[in-house]
Amino acid sequence: MLVGNPLSLFAAGSTFPLATGWLGAWGDVGYLVAAVLFIFGIKGMTHPRTAVRGNLFGSLGMLLAVVITLTQVTGVISLATALVGIVLGGAIGAVVATRVQMTQMPQLVALFNGFGGIASVLVAGAELLRPGAVETAAVLVDPRVAMFAAGLAGLIGAVTFTGSLVAAGKLQELQMFKKPFAFPGQQVVNAILLLGALGLTLWMLSSGAVWPFVALVLAASLLGVLLVTPIGGADMPVVIALLNSYSGLAAAAAGFVIGNNVLIIAGSLVGASGLILTSIMCKAMNRSLGNVLFGVMEASGESADADEVYAGKIKATSADEVAMMLDGVQRVVIVPGYGLAVAQAQHTVAELATLLQSRDVTVEYAIHPVAGRMPGHMNVLLAEADVPYEQLKEMDEINPTFSQVDVAIVIGANDVVNPVANTDPSSPIAGMPILNVHEARTAIVIKRSLSPGFAGIPNPLFAADNCLMLFGDGKQALVDLIAALKDS
Ligand code: TAP
Repeated sequence: MLVGNPLSLFAAGSTFPLATGWLGAWGDVGYLVAAVLFIFGIKGMTHPRTAVRGNLFGSLGMLLAVVITLTQVTGVISLATALVGIVLGGAIGAVVATRVQMTQMPQLVALFNGFGGIASVLVAGAELLRPGAVETAAVLVDPRVAMFAAGLAGLIGAVTFTGSLVAAGKLQELQMFKKPFAFPGQQVVNAILLLGALGLTLWMLSSGAVWPFVALVLAASLLGVLLVTPIGGADMPVVIALLNSYSGLAAAAAGFVIGNNVLIIAGSLVGASGLILTSIMCKAMNRSLGNVLFGVMEASGESADADEVYAGKIKATSADEVAMMLDGVQRVVIVPGYGLAVAQAQHTVAELATLLQSRDVTVEYAIHPVAGRMPGHMNVLLAEADVPYEQLKEMDEINPTFSQVDVAIVIGANDVVNPVANTDPSSPIAGMPILNVHEARTAIVIKRSLSPGFAGIPNPLFAADNCLMLFGDGKQALVDLIAALKDS
């Protein structure tokens, strides 16, 4: 996935028609090489083994595109101003990226998407205001295409910006965004705003006036807020992927406005890869996109009461007891979730796995596609601890085999192992495929309390006959378990 859109950098240097500057036509050849590098980058990211190389290719492509664009800074802004912007933006980005916690990454991605969106709005708006800019759009057969693209960049970019801010607020669990918000007739208001924004784009086209652009950006900004506020937190992964795609489409539209080929290509790649990711996330949660976007989440109010689910049925265990249980087992499956990331227990869990393997136990990790808080969260965590890829099993592969698992150790996972998804159609996670931990011979759940997960609902797995709760911080519980195993 290409995350966010630093692509607005190109706006600084774009002039019409094709690449100019002292590189001449070589600039376009360079852009082509950059585009090929982006494609190899995305291809590389399809597998953990090649992901680092893919990332490197993508970054090289971006560096090449930026350098070529800087050679073309003529008549728009000075090279010095562009460089000051790059240094300032780069410094802010570096500070934010080094400070952010792994668990806050989705919020950061949401903000990146939003910044990509607003950058496209600003690029399109600035180009509209530049005297004679649209008429010089010689690369486009008709300058009205540039005007129309500006309208689209304004519309999609503004929706992306405000929608991403709301999504980031939801992921950060800010109080004001915590509950899904909707009012009767909201979808009609949304439709009016969308049609209004498109109407304003057409007005711009027919009149050549620039002010409708401001009005359409305001309408689209409100639309972005209204589109995301009704969506429940559990659907945020899909929304983030979709907003990522929108940010790419906005950038591609901005590319048409300023006639920058690499911006069009890279924006389209982000748009397409974001859409594919959206579809993968929808499948992982068994939701249709329409249902995510327009089916207001009735959230947790309707779900069963925690006391009802847990009262008198919870069996707590200790590290010593679990160590005894693990003595002589053949197959153990580890189920990591968000709590593993919070506890930063990836290295400790890898140590436990190695210890069990040294005793001839087969150990695998069951990876749910939306475990944690971002796509691939568990893969990234476990890769940090050098867990071999062969031990990571996708949900579809491992699910049919849970009944042959001696012990499933769930560490900080909750929603992704909640059987309610299969049994309660009114639950916020209804229909989401889950890891069938409840089918294992014994399930050990490591978490600090009976608090709910992201979806805010109780989990009957914890009260099941074959389930034992090992209460405690994920890392500490694993340290205790390893010590108990070594002593046994
Ligand atoms: P969750 O359902 O969010 O449950 C995490 C559990 O971890 C909590 O119940 C918490 O219980 C426990 N925990 C927190 N800190 C811990 C610690 N230090 N040690 C041990 N346990 C700890 O996690 P999940 O099963 O991974 O499911 C992910 C959820 O997030 C899904 O609903 C998914 O839709 C949503 N989501 C996913 C994404 C992506 S793309 N992956 C993005 C946004 C949202 P205690 O407080 O009792 O310890």
